[in-house]
Amino acid sequence: MSKQPHEEKLRIANPDSAGTGCGLGISSGQGSEAGSQSAITNPQSEIALRAARLTKCFRSGAADLVVLEDLELQVSRGEMVAIVGESGAGKSTLLHLLGTLDTPTNGEVYLIEKKISGWSPNEIAGLRNREIGFVWQFHYLLPEFSALENVTMPLRIRGIAQAAAERKGRELLGEVGLAGRVHHRPGELSGGEQQRVALARALVAEPSLLLADEPTGNLDLKTGDMVFRLIEQLHRTHQLTSVIATHNLAFAERCDRVLRLENGRLWPAEKRDRM
Ligand SMILES: Nc1ncnc2c1ncn2[C@@H]1O[C@H](COP(=O)(O)OP(=O)(O)OP(=O)(O)O)[C@@H](O)[C@H]1O
Ligand SMILES: [Mg+2]
Repeated sequence: MSKQPHEEKLRIANPDSAGTGCGLGISSGQGSEAGSQSAITNPQSEIALRAARLTKCFRSGAADLVVLEDLELQVSRGEMVAIVGESGAGKSTLLHLLGTLDTPTNGEVYLIEKKISGWSPNEIAGLRNREIGFVWQFHYLLPEFSALENVTMPLRIRGIAQAAAERKGRELLGEVGLAGRVHHRPGELSGGEQQRVALARALVAEPSLLLADEPTGNLDLKTGDMVFRLIEQLHRTHQLTSVIATHNLAFAERCDRVLRLENGRLWPAEKRDRM
């Protein structure tokens, strides 16, 4: 694995350059998806998630910081894909774009065959709420609410009646092994248990896609292994399509595919690269 500092890996775009479409709003979304990243596609089955010529730049002084550039990705339904890459490579940026939490500078995200650009914020939020479960490095549970209340929150926001939401919430908490902790508040749970509650919350509304950003990053190795096993199990039982950013190469190896984010694009991670 390259040990270059991140600063050398990111390109700073000249705002006058038309290459990325950064800064000038030049469309680069018309091109083919062939090329150096073509190996990352999995042509066998239905595509659940797709990124086409995805570019993300952040304004940095007079120039643009190009984090993702013409990135291509296709994830088949039911696949579990790991994204690895050095700190600052753009993994979180990519997950935010795939999760419709941020908009690309250029290019497209397709969620279950639907092109996201052009949708209203409300439409995007609706699609996101229906289709995507998120898990982050930090659990973001609400401290004043119990595990059950945290897990049922997405259902209550949707207007599901309390009894039905609680039934579903208890079912999910049971699935993550916390049937005996439903009334505990986050502060009364261990780090691994907090992350299991966060997983239950992510899946309570039965999304088709799980996006996880370093879900074991805050946990010790043993607890992280237990949480990752749980993610694998939930991926199977809930028939999810999962994209997981991780620094843990052993966990990444357990996924169907490992992609390395480097120089703004995804590359198939060869075994030798992963060591
Ligand atoms: N909102 C923002 N404004 C400006 N720059 C940003 C913004 N968000 C991210 N960046 C920059 O984009 C680059 C990629 O950040 P990102 O968080 O996606 O990396 P990462 O691969 O997730 O890193 P890590 O493994 O440390 O979590 C970083 O250099 C970061 O400073
Ligand atoms: Mg990150």
